[in-house]
Amino acid sequence: MARDPRYDILFEPIKIGPKVARNRLWQAPHCMGGGAERPGFQAYHRALKAEGGWAVVGTEYTAIAPESEDMPRIAGRLWDQGDVRNYRLLTEKAHEHGALASVQLWYGGPFAGGQESRMVGVRKAVSHARAYLGVPVAGREMSKDEIREVQQYYVRAARLAREAGFDIVCLLCSTAIDITHQFLLPALNKRTDEYGGGLENRARFALETYEQVREAVGDDMAITVRLGVDTLEHPFGMGDLGIRVDGDGGAFMSLADHLIDMWDLVIGPLEWGEQAGPSRTHPINWAREIMLKARNYTHKPLANVGRLTDPNTMVEMLGSGQCDIIAAARPTISDPFLPKKIEEGRLEDIRECIGCNMCISKFEVGALPIVCTQNATVGEEYRRGWHPEKFTRASNADKDVLIVGAGPAGMECARILGERGMNRVHLVEAEDEIGGHVISVAGLPRLGEWGRVISYRKVQLDKLRNVEVITGRRLTKQDVLEYGAEIVIIATGSYWNPTGVHDVENQPIRGANATTQEHVLTPDQVFAGKDPGHSVVVFDTDGYFMGATLAERFAREGRTVTLVTPLAETAPYTEKTLEQPRLVRMLRQLGVAIRNYMTLSEVRPGSATLVDVWDDSGQAVDCDGVVLVTQRLPHEALFRDLRDDPVALEREDIEAVYRVGDCAVPSTIADAVFEGHRLAREIDSPNPAYPLPYIRERRLLDATEDDFKLDSPTIAIEPVALERT
Ligand SMILES: Cc1cc2nc3c(=O)[nH]c(=O)nc-3n(C[C@H](O)[C@H](O)[C@H](O)COP(=O)(O)O)c2cc1C
Ligand code: SF4
Repeated sequence: MARDPRYDILFEPIKIGPKVARNRLWQAPHCMGGGAERPGFQAYHRALKAEGGWAVVGTEYTAIAPESEDMPRIAGRLWDQGDVRNYRLLTEKAHEHGALASVQLWYGGPFAGGQESRMVGVRKAVSHARAYLGVPVAGREMSKDEIREVQQYYVRAARLAREAGFDIVCLLCSTAIDITHQFLLPALNKRTDEYGGGLENRARFALETYEQVREAVGDDMAITVRLGVDTLEHPFGMGDLGIRVDGDGGAFMSLADHLIDMWDLVIGPLEWGEQAGPSRTHPINWAREIMLKARNYTHKPLANVGRLTDPNTMVEMLGSGQCDIIAAARPTISDPFLPKKIEEGRLEDIRECIGCNMCISKFEVGALPIVCTQNATVGEEYRRGWHPEKFTRASNADKDVLIVGAGPAGMECARILGERGMNRVHLVEAEDEIGGHVISVAGLPRLGEWGRVISYRKVQLDKLRNVEVITGRRLTKQDVLEYGAEIVIIATGSYWNPTGVHDVENQPIRGANATTQEHVLTPDQVFAGKDPGHSVVVFDTDGYFMGATLAERFAREGRTVTLVTPLAETAPYTEKTLEQPRLVRMLRQLGVAIRNYMTLSEVRPGSATLVDVWDDSGQAVDCDGVVLVTQRLPHEALFRDLRDDPVALEREDIEAVYRVGDCAVPSTIADAVFEGHRLAREIDSPNPAYPLPYIRERRLLDATEDDFKLDSPTIAIEPVALERT
């Protein structure tokens, strides 16, 4: 289909300084675990977005000097010829697909750990500063010579960027993590010389830097600034210690406008969940009001982010003058082909980001390759050679496949097997709807967007003629044996442990059994309608979203809620997904009593016994019901029954039985989708149950390019068992 003319405006080219972007769709800088050290990973990931139609693709924040590296987080690095050599692959690949290539330059000051380089003594800050993030590093106030030195780092990096073939240098000035932003923020700039005090002084460092970079590369490269234009009010922002759009933020734009070619504006407090807003708390285009104000301070093109996956919203943003360019990080991760799909009139094929921030959590944990709940292929472009839109016909495509269970793993597995041309794929679900536990999760407060995991796959499965989805049919072992499929895949999901898990000893909780008791519940039972009563204790050792979100749901239902966890933090993994600050504050506002460092030692009708993990002191809490959010166990009986009966399998001509997703190992939705995808991609490999080797980008002595191919003997792993089930 052709593009709907409504969206033409998205495809108008735009001039950015000396460069022209082919359309208005711009990949915002984002980390993905590649940095400069894994050039293949870095280049192929960005190249795919270029192939998918984004006009500009580029790096994550990129350190411009050794003392600004950020291990264990993986940032880019651009300070030597080795970096230039490695980044050339990115720029070449981007250009091959008609995109411009950008690099985001960054000097972290006290917020760069420098833990790998150990160049502690030369780490510079605006003013004496301690670092954040729990890393015991700091920075010392720069002398004026050192100011010039750091400015020359920017110039050096910009020149190196040009040498590497980049078209755009994006100068980071946001989130208090870059030195230019640190100069701007009263919180971090305590200087009394001409670089501190009023805005003109606090802006001086950035303005001088922009001028110097312009002088070095101006006619050859575009210079853009990513500005955290508003650092918001307390409690999620910096208040008077930051900058506001209608104060110093906007005024800074006016001062710097003539020096740069484009503004890429974001919300910019240290708490970067305000910039990369999770769907739980931030509707799409949440910064609209601020961005409309920012418009008044510039004559240059403006780019805005905002979890922008919907072309109608994008058109409205451009049409209303909010911005000139749609910038996107997560939408490019969940669907690198979003622009192509708009162009081809295939909106229903867009795999929309669900705003879960699982991608960000991998960066926050440090050194992990990017993942995405919606897009299993992300991060696998180079090392596994996966393309999100291209599938090879399986060499065993003449086979029929039965998949039991249509949760995230089963749905994704069916989708990819369908794409790979299997003869017939039957996806059979016991419930009346497909989606598995994601149906319940998406029904939790403020998690509705997560339902896109299901809706995207429903649409895709409907399109595949060789895939049939059958609901409301619970298959027994005998049913499976007699089904007539040669390949069977069990994706029956998991269930919450009804007796709970008590702390690190992994022991059941005394007196608790949700299977037999009315006053003890699992999340599954809550979703099925079991009533926890008026006063509820939620015991959470899982540490991700379930415990805290159930607590929120109960509180919203008017119940009295105590959220108990032996962990130091409430829902600690949501700190990594940037959901925690607003989530915990909301729980407090809803009146949820939060008891950290407390474990649940015993449950009785009408009370729960909590024990302090540090001093073992106990206390009883009166409650009607206790909800155990502790451990998930695989629904594996069907798989085991089949696996353990090889004679019956052979008799029925069933060649293989696999299990995927939570039914193999309960994990995140992202992992379940990945597992389903991986099995389908490798269904014709020698042993599909075990993943094929992937390219390892490491230093390899006497290496040639052939060592970095998927068929290289250097990555082949000798199997330790000939047969697996
Ligand atoms: C995994 C991930 C890593 C990011 N890393 C960077 C970064 O290195 N530099 C930066 O300026 N912004 C970074 N961001 C923020 C994005 O550029 C963007 O501002 C934010 O995600 C909001 O845009 P979106 O809604 O399109 O995702 C990152 C975002 C994600 C999702
Ligand atoms: S992991 Fe979640 S937030 Fe990140 S891109 Fe994928 S769907 Fe969006």
